[in-house]
Amino acid sequence: MDPNPVDIDLYAEIPYQSTAIAETHPHHLAALGRLFGLQSAPSTSCRVLELGCGSGGNLIPMAWYLPASEFVGVELSPAPVAKAQQTIAALGLTNVEVRQGNILCLGAELGQFDYIIAHGVYSWVPEDVRRALLALCRVALQPHGIGYISYNTLPGWRIRNMLRDMLRHHARGIESPSQQITAARALLALLEPVVEKSQDPYARALRQDLKRLREADDGYLYHEYLESNNEPLLFTSFVADAQRHGLTYLCDTSLHTMFPSGLSAEAQAVLEPVDNFLEQEQYLDFLSNRTFRQSLLCHAEREPLRELDLERLDGLSCYAQLAPTQKLNLRRVQAEHFVSPQGPRCAVKHPLTKAALSVLEASYPNALAFADLLIRSQVMVEQAGGSRFAAEVNNLRYELLDLFGRSLIGLSVAPTESAVPDLCRPRASGLARQECNDGCVTSVWHRELQLDTLSAHLLGLLDGSRTVDDLSQALLTEIKTGQLSVPGARGANRTPSLPEVRANIERLLRVFARQGVLCDNDLRD
Ligand SMILES: C[S@@+](CC[C@H](N)C(=O)[O-])C[C@H]1O[C@@H](n2cnc3c(N)ncnc32)[C@H](O)[C@@H]1O
Repeated sequence: MDPNPVDIDLYAEIPYQSTAIAETHPHHLAALGRLFGLQSAPSTSCRVLELGCGSGGNLIPMAWYLPASEFVGVELSPAPVAKAQQTIAALGLTNVEVRQGNILCLGAELGQFDYIIAHGVYSWVPEDVRRALLALCRVALQPHGIGYISYNTLPGWRIRNMLRDMLRHHARGIESPSQQITAARALLALLEPVVEKSQDPYARALRQDLKRLREADDGYLYHEYLESNNEPLLFTSFVADAQRHGLTYLCDTSLHTMFPSGLSAEAQAVLEPVDNFLEQEQYLDFLSNRTFRQSLLCHAEREPLRELDLERLDGLSCYAQLAPTQKLNLRRVQAEHFVSPQGPRCAVKHPLTKAALSVLEASYPNALAFADLLIRSQVMVEQAGGSRFAAEVNNLRYELLDLFGRSLIGLSVAPTESAVPDLCRPRASGLARQECNDGCVTSVWHRELQLDTLSAHLLGLLDGSRTVDDLSQALLTEIKTGQLSVPGARGANRTPSLPEVRANIERLLRVFARQGVLCDNDLRD
């Protein structure tokens, strides 16, 4: 028996956390389009449609940061639609609309869009909705438009489905979704010790998934493992479905999955006889046991350029937040390490690229046009005594594209310049003050920033009326009266001193400013 009666609004019962998905952002889609030869619309003036947009956690921040672009979200479930509409009204946004609707009933009347996004929808809806989604992309995408569709894939989901089958079996006959979750968690807790130490291949296959699910939120557990619709598919089946609707595969949102580096000789031998690029990607999925894809589609008539020409980077702009871990040597080709605030590290060899990353780090969050970045990097390399490397532009292009492929730098179709925020009486953007109540904010480059209690509370106070001294006093009072706890404070009863609170606030303000969540007091929120 299917545990889920179809007449329940499951997304109202068990909400799915709606947050910013960086890979769906039009600046990222536009840059990928340009790399593959499409004349994709700049994110600063485009029309975006998001299907199954939930409560707008992805769409609304885009609309906030791109006031000259237009955004339409369609969502079946009324509860998230109401939440999205409340947020839009609270922010006073006029360039975004979220309406209740069914993908099955949408068509050309919506108008034409430069980007259509469907994140977490395709595998999670019945087949007729999947077909309608692709048909809608065909009728509603501009000639150079790009569709983003994410879906669960085979073969990776074969292993996950073992656990899904068990959990659905265990929850059979239970009507309430929240009670199904309770039952599923109980089974997970019983299974984990069984497989914990076993070297049996079956136990090893289950172990990782069990741990992941223990840490997952209820929305994820329910909608991936308990709900009736979860149809993983082979990449080539997805591409064939798209082709039947007049669409062609453009690329993946993460280029390193298309052009992987560091494959073993044995893995390369698997790929060698495969001459079709689509089949190559399919075999890469087999090799990596891939579970999820974020694929971009365009009209079949476009015939994207499949070879990545390094010089296409010259028409784009770059941004990055990678700090060197040591003093850079710009006079030698030697690997040196950079680290991103999220943790991932990378090694870069060529002096021009090392200089470029330093320039980008100092300019963040601004994106610099490639030509501008090149000149500044060349000057830096020359001043450091590495003149003979200043002309090695192809090495720079190659290393930057590799970093982009691994999501370590970002590309956009145009340079950007953020206003310098006032740090004397700092003011958080209206979006940040709205989002901080949910414990995270969206950065100007559409990254989700997790907030601890102190930073969330601080953001809420940043209305432009308080100096750093005022903020320090206010927070210290709240800490002393127990209204606010300081994360990570050492010593059970130790209250931080005023200078410590102030230093913490100044550090957080610098982080907020770099992420674009503070605004200039003279401009709009
Ligand atoms: C897994 S959730 C993903 C939500 C959101 N895109 C995200 O990633 O956070 C799938 C969403 O698609 C919506 N949905 C399902 N079928 C739909 C349909 N036929 N028309 C419109 N939305 C639909 C659901 O209500 C749900 O909000």
